[in-house]
Order: sequence, then structure tokens, then C-alpha cells
Amino acid sequence: MKIAIIGTGNVGSALGGSFVRAGHDVTFAAQDTARTQDVAAGLGARTSNSPASATATADVIVLAVPYSAAADVADEIAAAAKGKVVIDATNPLKADYSGLETEGGPSGAERLALRLPGAHVVKAFNTLFASVQADPTAAGRTVDGFFAGDDAVAKATVAELARSIGLRPIDAGSLQGARQLEALAWLNISMQLRTNGAWNTSLVLVNAPDKAIAA
Ligand SMILES: NC(=O)c1ccc[n+]([C@@H]2O[C@H](COP(=O)([O-])OP(=O)(O)OC[C@H]3O[C@@H](n4cnc5c(N)ncnc54)[C@H](OP(=O)(O)O)[C@@H]3O)[C@@H](O)[C@H]2O)c1
Repeated sequence: MKIAIIGTGNVGSALGGSFVRAGHDVTFAAQDTARTQDVAAGLGARTSNSPASATATADVIVLAVPYSAAADVADEIAAAAKGKVVIDATNPLKADYSGLETEGGPSGAERLALRLPGAHVVKAFNTLFASVQADPTAAGRTVDGFFAGDDAVAKATVAELARSIGLRPIDAGSLQGARQLEALAWLNISMQLRTNGAWNTSLVLVNAPDKAIAA
């Protein structure tokens, strides 16, 4: 797959490395050109001058930026993202890490989808810590990669991508299911904060319904 990753931080570089190892063609874009080039060179990926130009050459775009920057990035790529799969890997954390900004309302992913008309937004990879995204097989057992979206073809693409890096893709329903996936990520994050943990816990469903496991 031709994948554009917007963001070269923990998530961008972790997913980017896993995607490259799985044989995908990855292009990075962010604001800091020198860092973008360093990260891409280290992982065997390409770079692009801007999120919009990276989006224009990709089939799948991954938003791996802070939630506070996601709306601006969505606006920037909106024209180029029409008809494409946009994976929202962000979590709408409050700045003081006390919870989710979106609590009680639409998810971050649903809000971003409104800014990306014609794009197929899928929430995915947000429930996995970057340490797990960097090597989904490290736990010694198959870890679940939850995703939610409204377009069946886009969801199948994301499921294939998740499986290609060693995850078991679990369909969490329509894009509204992103509300649960963001809450699930918060459960995992808040537990690490409370326990000063190692930030490597992963979620695995025991007895997952066959129909929720993407083919
Ligand atoms: N860390 C985790 O374990 C984890 C796991 C799952 C989900 N998430 C979520 O994933 C998102 C990214 O987290 P992270 O830990 O990777 O953050 P991070 O390490 O701070 O990286 C954020 C990246 O976004 C880029 N960026 C910021 N504003 C931008 C803009 N306007 N245009 C283009 N690029 C921009 C930054 O690069 P420049 O400064 O060069 O622009 C940087 O590369 C967050 O929403 C987070 O909640 C994090």
C-alpha cells in the first residue's frame, strides 16, 4: 500500500517502521523538515514537503499528530484526501491528561470526518501504545487492532494493513464506535499514569465473536 504518515513522533515513527517492514511504501510529512528526513531515512521511507503533497501521492493517510493539531492538518489535506482512506490514530486527550476532551460528545474521529468530506475516515491504531505499534508481535501473542468506520471498503483496507503488521483486526462498528475506541485508549493510558507503568499493555479480546474478526 502507498501510505502517507503525517507526524514523525512516537506514533508516526513506530507505525512507519512496522509498515515499511511489512513491505508498504511509506511517505512522511510533518513540520520539521530535518527531523522528517532523519526519521524517514532511518526507517527506509520517503519524505514529502507537506501533508497535502504526501496525501496526494498516497492511497492511505495516517494522522499521527497531537489532537490539538489534527483539525488544522485535516483542513490542510482535505482536498487531496477525497476518495482516500484516512486513518485517525489520534487520541483527544485533555492537555493536562485528566481525560478526553470529547467526553460525552462525538469522538475526535467523527469531528475530523466532518472536516474531510469525501474521505473515508477510519479510527485505528489509537488503542495501541507506540511501543506496541513499533513491534506488534513483541508481547509473544497476537494483539488486537481495533478499528471503526463507515465505509466497508476502507475498513477492509485498514484491516489488511493491521494484519500485515501482525495484529488481529477487530471491527468495532461504524465511525461512532470511535467513541468507544477513544475511551478504551484512555482506559489503557490512565492505568499507566496511575501505576507509573511501562506503557506496553495491549488489549486482547478473549472469545472475540468470529464476526468481529476481520477476514
Ligand atoms: N504515544 C503513544 O503511545 C500513542 C499511542 C496511540 C495514539 N497516540 C496519539 O497519536 C497522536 C500522536 O502521538 P505521538 O505520541 O506520536 O505525538 P508526538 O511524538 O508529539 O508527535 C507528534 C507529531 O506531529 C507532528 N505535528 C504536529 N503538528 C503538526 C502539524 N500542524 N502538521 C504536521 N505535523 C504536525 C510533529 O512534528 P512537527 O513538529 O515536525 O510538525 C510530530 O512529529 C496523538 O494524538 C496521541 O494521543 C499516541
